Amino acid sequence: MSSTIALIIIGVAVLFILGIKLLSSPKTARIGNLVAAAGMLVALLALHKPGGDYVWSQGWTFNYTLIAIGTVIGLIIGAIGAYSVKMTSMPQMVALFNGLGGGAAALVASLEYFSGAHSLAGITAFIALTMLLATLIGSLSFSGSIIAYLKLEGKFEKPITFPGQNILNGLILLVILGLCGWLTVNATAAAATPAFITLFALALFFGVAMVMPIGGADMPVVISLLNSFTGLAVAADGFAINNLAMIVAGTLVGSSGTLLTLLMCKAMNRPVTNVLFGAFGSSGSSKAGAGDLAGKTVKPLQADEAALLLSYAQQVVIVPGYGMAVAQAQHQVRELSDELVKRGVDVRFAIHPVAGRMPGHMNVLLAEANISYEQLCEMEAINPTMDRVDVCLVIGANDVVNPAAREEKTSPIYGMPIIDADRCKTVIVMKRSMAAGFAGIENHLFYKDNTRMLFGDAKNSLQALVTAVKAS
Ligand code: TAP
Repeated sequence: MSSTIALIIIGVAVLFILGIKLLSSPKTARIGNLVAAAGMLVALLALHKPGGDYVWSQGWTFNYTLIAIGTVIGLIIGAIGAYSVKMTSMPQMVALFNGLGGGAAALVASLEYFSGAHSLAGITAFIALTMLLATLIGSLSFSGSIIAYLKLEGKFEKPITFPGQNILNGLILLVILGLCGWLTVNATAAAATPAFITLFALALFFGVAMVMPIGGADMPVVISLLNSFTGLAVAADGFAINNLAMIVAGTLVGSSGTLLTLLMCKAMNRPVTNVLFGAFGSSGSSKAGAGDLAGKTVKPLQADEAALLLSYAQQVVIVPGYGMAVAQAQHQVRELSDELVKRGVDVRFAIHPVAGRMPGHMNVLLAEANISYEQLCEMEAINPTMDRVDVCLVIGANDVVNPAAREEKTSPIYGMPIIDADRCKTVIVMKRSMAAGFAGIENHLFYKDNTRMLFGDAKNSLQALVTAVKAS
């Protein structure tokens, strides 16, 4: 590789790292995305042959035309997807795109394995093993991501589990690893092709078998983990085709995916093994704690009563959740907050790390409505202050304010950190019905003495609240 290309790739690596750094705050996320995309464009233009020439300086032969056609098709599909996808369906899109990345990495690795094996120089055992692992990881990331996508679309009601499932999966993995070992040293054998096809098929099946038993609520964690797998497969491809940009990008995706997975598990207070083998979070999970609620009733209230409570409060905390995203009520939330602030009320927003359906979901929606970042508080920062809060307004949040996570050892969400809404003087919960949230469990908060329920679609209820606060 020429030193010019090496320098360009170092620049690309800097752009990728800067892009990821900027993505860590909603204020700078957009620019971060553009910086990383610019890095990708430079990496594409710096594509080079092993000898060191840029592919673009070679003239337009058939292969480079194909690269250009692929790039344009990818750009069109990506742009249509990004513009048309609803905010609530973003995790599905991430799953699909991640799956395609994994599939592409597996195909590149397969081609490199066979073209290397049948070239004059042959293939070294190291490269053969790298390509086989990239094929394995890329294809299981592909099929696993497709299942994750279907689960998020609600195509599977419950996690699919059966006795001995983990043992069966373990056996399949052993066969796969055995095939990898054999193919590493027998790349040119006549049986290599059928063995490779078996490996590919088993890896695809393993991706399905791995994700099937995991509940829908855990899909973002799974997608993040599969994302790190895709990164590893891409980095392995980079080794084989001597492409430094792929090694850098793949390693960054692999490490950031792993970190995100661990951070999400920490936010839910569950080990990764519990996510992968625990079959938690299906929409059909038990209504835990329902028995204790016999005879208890909730206390509904009307928008004008809620408006009075809010207008005369000194401190209000708003807890947004998935329901706010469904109702697309973020603009009405801002109107209400502005109106209360005008009246001298201290309004803060409590953001739970897994509120909604994707990391940063609430931050994105509130930023879209131009709610000031200064008003947003993280769970750890706001919880110690909740005793002093006059009114906590819970907008379409359920699991993230469920005290069962603190109090009921048998609850599937026991141990997950929550926003302590129940510790405020008065809690107003806005939702449409008594339906459960994603974890499918009852919420004792709704039945507490200091809780009042404002039933209805969050957007309509907020509009009514704003009108009533203005009139009060
Ligand atoms: P949920 O527990 O899912 O509760 C959302 C509530 O919103 C529901 O109880 C629903 O009740 C209400 N709702 C739905 N549409 C509404 C509308 N139009 N107007 C008013 N209310 C509406 O949400 P959460 O508290 O944000 O918790 C998130 C859950 O999802 C956690 O269990 C988390 O682990 C999981 N999860 C998180 C992520 C990430 S990374 N954020 C990804 C996947 C899953 P009604 O039907 O009665 O209105």
